[in-house]
Amino acid sequence: MPSFITDELKRLTRDGLLRQTRCIEGPVGTTVLMNGEEKLLFCSNDYLGLANNAEVKNAAIEAIKRYGTGAGASRLVSGTTALHEELEERIRAFKKTEAVLLFNSGYAANMGVITAITHRSTEIFSDRLNHASIVDGIILSRAKFRRYPHNDVNVLEDMLRSSRAPQKLIITEGVFSMDGDLAPLREIISLLETYDAYLFLDEAHATGALGATGRGTLEALAIPTGNPRIIEMGTLGKAFGSFGAYVAGSSALKTLLTTKARSFIYTTALPPAQCGASIKAIDILDENPSLVRRVQDNAAYMRDALEAARLNIMGSTTQIIPVLIGDTRRVMELSELIFSEGVFIQGIRPPTVPEGRARLRLTVSAVHSKEEMNRAVRVICECTKDTFGVCRACGGGGCVDECE
Ligand SMILES: Cc1ncc(COP(=O)(O)O)c(C=O)c1O
Repeated sequence: MPSFITDELKRLTRDGLLRQTRCIEGPVGTTVLMNGEEKLLFCSNDYLGLANNAEVKNAAIEAIKRYGTGAGASRLVSGTTALHEELEERIRAFKKTEAVLLFNSGYAANMGVITAITHRSTEIFSDRLNHASIVDGIILSRAKFRRYPHNDVNVLEDMLRSSRAPQKLIITEGVFSMDGDLAPLREIISLLETYDAYLFLDEAHATGALGATGRGTLEALAIPTGNPRIIEMGTLGKAFGSFGAYVAGSSALKTLLTTKARSFIYTTALPPAQCGASIKAIDILDENPSLVRRVQDNAAYMRDALEAARLNIMGSTTQIIPVLIGDTRRVMELSELIFSEGVFIQGIRPPTVPEGRARLRLTVSAVHSKEEMNRAVRVICECTKDTFGVCRACGGGGCVDECE
């Protein structure tokens, strides 16, 4: 084995940073089968519970029957089917935007958009907690970039004021993937005209999960859509229970991305099954906007319960609820312990989150029951009591269930 592999593996093991996949032996629901045992699942981004929905699955099967299993080529060769165009049109109507372009994943969308719309002379202003796919897109773009402290609009404004760049691009997530808080979009958007800047908004965790009808963060914050200075992306693999991503903006933007976004051009198109599943997921959301309310009601219930138990949920206001632990090794031990008690909650470590900010990252869906949430909170309380030196369950005086 070459030493560059073994040495790096040793270092990662020593620092508690080695990562491993975990296998689920069946469909994703509020419970999953792992090693033959049923576990409560609280770390999936299947926010509306659509990943194993019968109608969504049937739509995928129908798409396979009509179009086969693979697109066979990239979109610009022979990989564009009527289903791809139908899905783009459905998302365009859903987002009330001029045009939509599909990408194969949110990661690919962020890489593709950021590199296609910027130049070396562009200056990018990126929230310090932005997702790795944004960071990687920025690095690949070779544009100048500055990171502003998380959600700090004052520092962002200072940076914009001092910038001499001919093109200024602000990038933020709507809902932050590891913190579950919202970007101050009203304030950020108010800077766009003044500083002749543009906004690229990552709605991976907001699409389908936020706003009265699931349109995302702008809807949740009652900000009008259609601002030509805003480009939005969202994913289909989270709330929509499918896979893929979209970018929403002007027709001119779509033409530019079609011509220049390398992660759109040089890859096989999304498989028909995923297009069929995504179309059905949008139908279901349009017919049942109460699903979004259910995610957010469940999330509020869970946040209240965790806060009542005096756990630090880091200012989350959404269905993504971190429980701050701090130490990298400890968070992984806790995740294991909680798993052994029947609840699957992934521990999140650097470099995904900053050093010293390791956390359990819980996600809540529309289909979790109160009993399931109560059980998860009880297990978290019991498992973390040694870490925090007090019984989180009874010490907080706000248990959602009896503490033994
Ligand atoms: C904020 C954010 N953007 C983009 C992505 C990438 O999306 P996808 O999983 O579709 O590649 C993720 C996924 O975890 C994310 O959290």
